[in-house]
Amino acid sequence: MPEAHVGVVTGAASGIGKASALRLAADGLIVGLLDRDGTGVDATIREIATSGGHGLPLVADLSDSDAVTEAIRTAAGAGALRVVVNAAGVFSSGSIADLDEREWQRVMDINLTAAYRVCRAAIPLMAHGRHGAVINISSMSGRTKSVKGSVAYVASNGGLIAFTQTLAAQCGPDGIRVNCIAPGPVRTPMTEAHDLLDAKTISAIPLERYAEPSEIAEVVAFLASDASSYVTGETINVNGGMFTI
Ligand SMILES: NC(=O)c1ccc[n+]([C@@H]2O[C@H](COP(=O)([O-])OP(=O)(O)OC[C@H]3O[C@@H](n4cnc5c(N)ncnc54)[C@H](O)[C@@H]3O)[C@@H](O)[C@H]2O)c1
Repeated sequence: MPEAHVGVVTGAASGIGKASALRLAADGLIVGLLDRDGTGVDATIREIATSGGHGLPLVADLSDSDAVTEAIRTAAGAGALRVVVNAAGVFSSGSIADLDEREWQRVMDINLTAAYRVCRAAIPLMAHGRHGAVINISSMSGRTKSVKGSVAYVASNGGLIAFTQTLAAQCGPDGIRVNCIAPGPVRTPMTEAHDLLDAKTISAIPLERYAEPSEIAEVVAFLASDASSYVTGETINVNGGMFTI
């Protein structure tokens, strides 16, 4: 019997990570759900199971390096680790005058350093199989100014795009592709909690609506699959056309 393929999705308890986990499970991967929110992880696993898929709970805080390494090892124990999606993240707003160093570090630690922690643990395991795909969820605010995000939020997302490019160059010879998605506004618990979805934002979107998390997950599934076998080091804008105006 062929070995099962495994994917790990961070932030899988909510929003874009949750939708990505559901989508990859529908493609037949065993999906490890790496999130600090155990209740949310259980809920996603139940939804995956309802559709006949397999989810693996990996409840951990991404700021804990050892816990991340252990979670990746556990996931790789379930089959061949093929896909990693870094979708966990936190939002931060306000001007630089109000941004103390602790807040800067908090945002960098989860939005950028956590992706490094996950990849450092996962890449050697994927290199062993000579086949893998990493998908980093950045933001359109990593490519242009943000109206509401703090400089920490945009810098962490810009950093993730730069991280993607050099990691792709390093990992290509091992058969691992590394890509990034830069979403515009998506209807998730994050954007709802921070009141980021308003009429003014919609008026700047040619498609005249926000994205649903499942629309980002479709692009994740493409980048995780062999349909994108010659795509690496890219950042795909998924923003309803916001860069056209
Ligand atoms: N929603 C949007 O409009 C939008 C747009 C562009 C980019 N993004 C980016 O996409 C990513 C996901 O956003 P979302 O809207 O799905 O957010 P969300 O708040 O719905 O989900 C984020 C998940 O990350 C998890 N998480 C946060 N800190 C963690 C930690 N220390 N350890 C483990 N898990 C942790 C949370 O528990 C949660 O399940 C973020 O990086 C965000 O910046 C979102």
